[in-house]
Amino acid sequence: VIRAVELIQRKRDGAELAPDEIAELVLGYARDEVPDYQLAAFCMAVYFRGLSTAETYALTDAMIRSGETIDLGAELGRKVVDKHSTGGVGDKTSLAVGPVVAACGVPFGKMSGRGLGHTGGTLDKLESIPGFRVELSREEFVAQVREVGLAIIGQTADLVPADKRLYALRDVTATVDNVSLIAASIMSKKLAAGADAIVLDVKVGDGAFMKSLPDAQALAEAMIALGARAGRVEVVCLLTDMDQPLGRAVGNALEVREALETLRGDGEPQFTELVLAASARLLALSDLGIDEADGRRRAEAALADGTATAAYERWIRAQGGDPDPGARPTAPVVRSVEAPRAGYVANLGAIAVGQAALRLGAGRATKDDAIDHAVGVRCLRKRGDAVRAGESLAEVHARDEPGADAAVAEVLAAYTIADEAPPARPIVLDVLGG
Ligand code: URA
Repeated sequence: VIRAVELIQRKRDGAELAPDEIAELVLGYARDEVPDYQLAAFCMAVYFRGLSTAETYALTDAMIRSGETIDLGAELGRKVVDKHSTGGVGDKTSLAVGPVVAACGVPFGKMSGRGLGHTGGTLDKLESIPGFRVELSREEFVAQVREVGLAIIGQTADLVPADKRLYALRDVTATVDNVSLIAASIMSKKLAAGADAIVLDVKVGDGAFMKSLPDAQALAEAMIALGARAGRVEVVCLLTDMDQPLGRAVGNALEVREALETLRGDGEPQFTELVLAASARLLALSDLGIDEADGRRRAEAALADGTATAAYERWIRAQGGDPDPGARPTAPVVRSVEAPRAGYVANLGAIAVGQAALRLGAGRATKDDAIDHAVGVRCLRKRGDAVRAGESLAEVHARDEPGADAAVAEVLAAYTIADEAPPARPIVLDVLGG
């Protein structure tokens, strides 16, 4: 029998658990021998007490051991690069980075997650594409990366099943924003999928789980340490601004649309910059043997010459989806959020916009909620933009009129309009590791 109550109690009281004790709990949970409520209590104890480096490593290792692993590099005979974000609002980066990297000849096979808290999940975004299958078998995944150069899938049932369950549990028990739990969750997936080099997009600010640069740096360092401890894997962390939504769109089908516009070279400037920065790092870490400046030039060329868009279309079709923009669902009610006065956008609260999108139906409130893929928000004006009184700041895409009314008020409240433009802030705030 697993001593779950005793282990929860010791963590609650601040003790450090032994690696085999953490493994017992996590593997027991994965085997259904420990119920949700005990793991939820354990996560809350971890939230308040934290995990030591050794405990974080034990958690990561146990999650990897809860299932099978893939050695994608050995299967492809190539060095494999991967990316992951710590989660943000409007974060459709993988949807654009995958096609750019693939267009540059580097295989990209990634496991993504679903929405967590007020943040969106890449899988939910992809499922807004009619027909798109996020659940490929391991064999299908490897074959698609080999043949198409790009696959983004959900965790297969046999890869890191403990994280898959824990992630959904944390989402609805207010235990997401903890450095150790996030680090173990992300790194277990990346290590189990066999990445040789990883670019981590560590979000910082109001819409991120880590609100301050020092907290984000701590999360980056925890993930770099897990990579070092696992051996052989290179980890680079980009610390990026999440004080306002990323790009313009927040909401599943709207974000797919924006990713595609960006691949066509028609993206919002800061989002485009992040896509290029992440792609350049991935290309520099790949087996192409090029440096970052060269990686950036190739990434820019892929946007300019249509090869990134072509890679996107091949990929979506390979996973059963219809790449035609007209195939994606659209919301029946679209309403404009108007500027109450003239001035500059001094602030655009990411979490407020994320929550407005969530309440419109773009995310989940409980583990089993269905998502409305069509709804969301498009922020037409971003921080620093000049606005005229009455001009449209944003668009709300809603299922019905009452939903639209509520979201218009919430999005309006997310904007602060001031007389002067705020100081410019770059999207990439810091780079650690590598
Ligand atoms: N992304 C993950 O995969 N896990 C987390 O815990 C947070 C973001």
